[in-house]
Amino acid sequence: MADASPLSTDGLVQILFGSSAFQMLNAGRNLGLFALLHRQPGLTAGEIGRELGLAERPVQILLLGTTALRLTTRQGEGYANAGLLDALFADGTWEIIEDLIEYEERIVRPAEVDFTQSLRENTNVGLRRIKGTGPDLYHRLSADPGLEQLFYRCMRSWSRLSNPVLVGKADLKGVRRVLDVGGGDGVNAIALARANPGVEFTVLDLPGTAEIARRRIAEHGLSDRISVRAADIFADTYPPGHDCVLFANQLVIWSPEENTSLLRKAYAALPDGGRVLVFNAMSDDSGDGPLYAALDNVYFATLPARSSTIYRWDQYEEWFAAAGFVKSERLPGGRWTPHGVISAVK
Ligand SMILES: C[S@@+](CC[C@H](N)C(=O)[O-])C[C@H]1O[C@@H](n2cnc3c(N)ncnc32)[C@H](O)[C@@H]1O
Repeated sequence: MADASPLSTDGLVQILFGSSAFQMLNAGRNLGLFALLHRQPGLTAGEIGRELGLAERPVQILLLGTTALRLTTRQGEGYANAGLLDALFADGTWEIIEDLIEYEERIVRPAEVDFTQSLRENTNVGLRRIKGTGPDLYHRLSADPGLEQLFYRCMRSWSRLSNPVLVGKADLKGVRRVLDVGGGDGVNAIALARANPGVEFTVLDLPGTAEIARRRIAEHGLSDRISVRAADIFADTYPPGHDCVLFANQLVIWSPEENTSLLRKAYAALPDGGRVLVFNAMSDDSGDGPLYAALDNVYFATLPARSSTIYRWDQYEEWFAAAGFVKSERLPGGRWTPHGVISAVK
């Protein structure tokens, strides 16, 4: 649910200068400020400038920004990271956050200037910022190998951030083989395979991505349990022999009609009693939050495909029913990102 307190002028300032707030985080990351303060808390502005190779004026600008935003704190003359940042460094999450910052800067920012026009035209106008002629972001990535590499590195980090929810909530008891539809570089299949030693997986994705997945899975020594098949998830029939179909960060890309048709394909591929699992960010049934879903939706509205958006839980229930599934169950992640799993049975 959205924060119900009335908007203050401070709140308005944060919205008006929202991109500037992001730039403070981005610069602090790029210039190595947060990494420095994690190693050496308590440095003065002068010492920070010397360590980062920055003149006095830019150091003052940077520290004013990061401190006003509470990314850093000031005690006397010394500066330290916010406790949250140091905790993210300590548990290894900061390297994931660094990729997310880079994703926002290099992929989301250039396209999001087309947000208003995307709303007007009810389509992903920002796709014009990506080279190539493919119908969606994923088909265009193969036209730009540098961007493709960046995309899949960052996509892996988005998934690593949230897929403990998938691993913790997806009940694979009794499941023998999972079909991971649009499984990307295999990040979720790898995590699930590690947590569920008796289960095998097939990752389906476009040919270029399938190649990346094969390499990643081999690096993890899991090629005997995770196979990869290049396919178009709309045009091609799903391979038989799976008793669970997973859509991870997949049904946020397509329209309700396309999602219903993907779920019908899953239904047709499953035996009676087979399970479908949908894992991604969810928005609330009340349609007013959470903030993460609301703001991440600028990206979804502007870039990936014509109809991408962060749907409500109840929309998945509607599509499950239309595809013939029963016994749907909501499994909210209960973490700071609104990721959750929703499952149903054939
Ligand atoms: C948002 S990514 C999610 C990847 C992965 N499931 C994860 O959670 O990290 C969407 C994936 O769907 C794949 N995809 C998009 N359209 C596809 C299509 N028509 N056929 C096969 N895969 C497709 C993309 O290549 C991409 O890997």
